[in-house]
Amino acid sequence: MAIKYSQKVIQHFTSPQNVGDLKDPDAVSTEGSAACGDMITYSMKINSETRIVEDVMFKSFGCASNIATASVATVLAKGKSIDDIKALKHADLTDALDGLPAVKLHCSVLAIDGLKSAVRQWEVSQGLIENGHVILNKETVHKFLNGVINPHTGENLIEANMIRRILIEEEEEGHVFIEIRITDEEEMFAPNIDEEIREKLEEIPGVRKVLVQFKHKI
Ligand code: FES
Repeated sequence: MAIKYSQKVIQHFTSPQNVGDLKDPDAVSTEGSAACGDMITYSMKINSETRIVEDVMFKSFGCASNIATASVATVLAKGKSIDDIKALKHADLTDALDGLPAVKLHCSVLAIDGLKSAVRQWEVSQGLIENGHVILNKETVHKFLNGVINPHTGENLIEANMIRRILIEEEEEGHVFIEIRITDEEEMFAPNIDEEIREKLEEIPGVRKVLVQFKHKI
């Protein structure tokens, strides 16, 4: 019996989006499916300050369903943060395609695994993870602080040169201490900055407590 596909699957298969290889990618991944032996390759451009996927392309050596799910995966991934991508599930791809026949669900699993693998490769290249685990050290904290914006200037804390000290407490496991330089005009934004720092750093596995202290610029 012939397999019945949705219109969206047919559209993405016949006119796939973002096919090919990116020039000078920040991450490349090739994944194979244990179920069928097919392969997929993604290349990505990721902004190291915002951790946003600015561009992504794919090449599939898989079936029509894999081409369609990879195509829709690149559409969903573009402009998203790496954390959003880590939260994607293969069902998000099949939902965006109005479903896939049950015998073809593994093709969407290959598409999503490849996408997440490219993000993992990037995190490894940035020194954010090792053997699948995020390393809690000053560099990791520094990178996560890249995403915290000073509402007064619109710059991130690194660009605004606001980070005075990062301390990973050795005696209290998972405790991180951050000292921030702040001007009189910026003081009213201190509670927002404090909250944003906590939110970002608490995403790092192993962080149990974040202490933020503000010091006035003289
Ligand atoms: Fe292999 Fe679809 S049958 S990816």
